[in-house]
Amino acid sequence: MGKNIFITGAAGFIGFHLAKRLKELGNHVLGYDNFNSYYDQKLKRDRAKELAKGGIHIIEGDILDEGNLKEAIINNNTTHLVHLAAQAGVRYSLQEPRSYLKANIDGFLNILEICRERPGIKLTYASSSSVYGLNKKIPFATDDRTDQQASLYGVTKKANELMAQTYHHLFGIPVTGLRFFTVYGPWGRPDMAYFSFTKAILEGKTIEIFNHGNMKRDFTYIDDIVDGIVAAIDKEGKCEVYNLGHHHPEDLPHMIALLEKELGKKANKILLPMQPGDVPSTYADITSSIQDLNFNPRTSLTEGIAQFVVWYKGYYLR
Ligand SMILES: NC(=O)c1ccc[n+]([C@@H]2O[C@H](COP(=O)([O-])OP(=O)(O)OC[C@H]3O[C@@H](n4cnc5c(N)ncnc54)[C@H](O)[C@@H]3O)[C@@H](O)[C@H]2O)c1
Repeated sequence: MGKNIFITGAAGFIGFHLAKRLKELGNHVLGYDNFNSYYDQKLKRDRAKELAKGGIHIIEGDILDEGNLKEAIINNNTTHLVHLAAQAGVRYSLQEPRSYLKANIDGFLNILEICRERPGIKLTYASSSSVYGLNKKIPFATDDRTDQQASLYGVTKKANELMAQTYHHLFGIPVTGLRFFTVYGPWGRPDMAYFSFTKAILEGKTIEIFNHGNMKRDFTYIDDIVDGIVAAIDKEGKCEVYNLGHHHPEDLPHMIALLEKELGKKANKILLPMQPGDVPSTYADITSSIQDLNFNPRTSLTEGIAQFVVWYKGYYLR
């Protein structure tokens, strides 16, 4: 029998793809999103329109409005809650730190309080590779130290994991956390490098490359991430935390070269020093995700960037 799945942040990049997939799998899916202006709201509205075509509705609401959120979750007879709504982005957390505490801490507390009241609901929530902060050991394993953060964004995501663990311990709520690693693909997030670089290259503008290009990211294609989330939703919820990453870090200049190839245009690059808050590399150890979630990320960066560029051209240049 299909599940009643409630997704916060459903107009966002990952939420959009997850909602589609879960619906295709025969579940009832309801979204919740405040369509905020952190990035292009038209993109969020267009994602919502796409979902509406498949019969998926998104309630326009804020996770900070606990009454509204609770009513929506309960009226839906929610069996599974996937919490993706958050203030994302590392760099922006240096500019607008308070928005992170509100959405990511107060908002998450509302989610946990609702789950505390309704312990039958299984919760799966988004953490981030950012929790590894200044961790030097690679690949990043879920039992590595995460007590040295590099950004306030990472702090809020680490706090989410601790809050979830505490609510699991105190009230027995079934919960699973997922640390996503640099997710990319069609309908992606305009604030992320692969997306903003694409726009800049096409417009002949300069792209800023930090740490002189000495950066590695474990770029993970959206469909692979969705596979991992779908598997996690079915877990018992013993408060496990899993890495969802490709386990194949790539140099930033290689990602740019792939974009140049797909776009048929060279980038104007400016090399700059490391940005505060950033880390030089990310690399997921996915041993437990393979074992418990059958996680098998299969999309190469070459393939994934090609898919992204096809979508980008179709969406923006038509
Ligand atoms: N994309 C990545 O590479 C990545 C990596 C690590 C972790 N994550 C986490 O995964 C989750 C989803 O990320 P995404 O890339 O889809 O980001 P996104 O910004 O595209 O999606 C988040 C959605 O949440 C909504 N939202 C934000 N604050 C809200 C609030 N107060 N009330 C209701 N809705 C609100 C936004 O409008 C947005 O549509 C986030 O928790 C993010 O921190 C993403």
